[in-house]
Amino acid sequence: MAAAVVWRRGAAWLRSCRANRELPGVPRARGCAGSREVVPTCERYAVRRLPFARLADGDVAFFERLMPGRVITGEEEVKPFNVDWLKSVRGCSQLVLKPQTTAEVSQILRYCHERNLAVNPQGGNTGLVGGSVPVFDEIILSTALMNQIISFDKVLADGSALDCLTSLRKDNTGYDLKQLFIGSEGTLGVITAVSILCPQRPKAVNVAFLGCQSFAKVLETFTTCRAMLGEILSAYEFMDEKCMELVETHLKLSSPVADSPFYVLIETSGSNSTHDEEKLHNFLEQAMASGLVTDGTVATDEKKIKVLWSLRERITEALTHEGYVYKYDISLPVGKLYDLVTDMRARLGQSAKNVVGYGHLGDGNLHLNITAESYSHSLLEAIEPFVYEWTARCSGSISAEHGLGFKKRHFIHYSKPHEAVLLMQQFKAMLDPKGILNPYKTLPSAPDRSTC
Ligand code: MLT
Ligand code: ZN
Repeated sequence: MAAAVVWRRGAAWLRSCRANRELPGVPRARGCAGSREVVPTCERYAVRRLPFARLADGDVAFFERLMPGRVITGEEEVKPFNVDWLKSVRGCSQLVLKPQTTAEVSQILRYCHERNLAVNPQGGNTGLVGGSVPVFDEIILSTALMNQIISFDKVLADGSALDCLTSLRKDNTGYDLKQLFIGSEGTLGVITAVSILCPQRPKAVNVAFLGCQSFAKVLETFTTCRAMLGEILSAYEFMDEKCMELVETHLKLSSPVADSPFYVLIETSGSNSTHDEEKLHNFLEQAMASGLVTDGTVATDEKKIKVLWSLRERITEALTHEGYVYKYDISLPVGKLYDLVTDMRARLGQSAKNVVGYGHLGDGNLHLNITAESYSHSLLEAIEPFVYEWTARCSGSISAEHGLGFKKRHFIHYSKPHEAVLLMQQFKAMLDPKGILNPYKTLPSAPDRSTC
């Protein structure tokens, strides 16, 4: 079997790759800033392989029998599953499994549990499963998932299936187990089926894109907007001028308003277009008259709405063209949200290429991103733990929506008390006693207390 050649190369192959700092077939990521090396995760970050079993010929043969045609071992096919979405680091998994049923996931996990094989469940960026790069040689489970969960089926680490699938809106029988799995990043179980809540598509959607002269005005506009738009306000997003510059330069998008230090995107969703437009119009009139906003545009048709949203939603993409990106996803009281960007900018000075801030201001969620030509450990040390200490001082959270994953797990204590972390570790030990599910992610390993 040709595929066998791939995993037999095992440790020696990996060692030689590390020596050459090059994994055969894994491209160097390219951005406008030049070529960036996709280095092994364990090389960039000090992490040691836990004593899991190594994948053997017999393991692959077992999976081939269980799910013929859905076992990927080819070097080229496995490659994209090993690299993170920012194309900055790579794991060295040699096997991707594509289960289609709860029964298959159950059999795979039962087998891995018995054999002590580590598993990396990947399922997109819902935050429900890992979706991140394997660190060492975990088996990748590629599953598809959705959002807006009201219930789901899951399979625990030992392969036992938990059938909690229901479409009831209310069900208060015992503990609400799904909450434990949401945000657990595939470390507690693998979700195999979901029941989702589908809200009705709003009849009237409007988007306003506005320029503000200061962050204080962004905040005041938010207060006014909440008071005047009330129940139809469905999004309040912000970005700074550097973000606009990046989407213009790298993605060739054009700003629809005059240059401003800050931009705000406001979305309304309602059921009566005349009523909603009138409310939005009144709000905009007041915001302009009082000088909160200096320029703006409004879209009511789908195409223009999409164009305005792309200015905000494609910032992340634009940033990847700058070189290496240090990403932080912080929750803060809105009044302090941009102070972190300003303080970080002052702290890093010329050592960073850009320090930018954007995010979901309506949720108190800041995306602080710092770019440099390439990864530098000394720059990382200038950013961390400063960013976490700053956030903790303001009673914020160091992970608002993306999860702690691999890079931030040791900083959890900046946002959670020891007792809460201990309880999480106890849950983990109970549900996954061998720690095979997404090891190296989300929680610090039990004896290893945080640096906080
Ligand atoms: C966004 O809001 O654009 C993303 O959550 C940011 C990111 O993934 O960096
Ligand atoms: Zn976001």
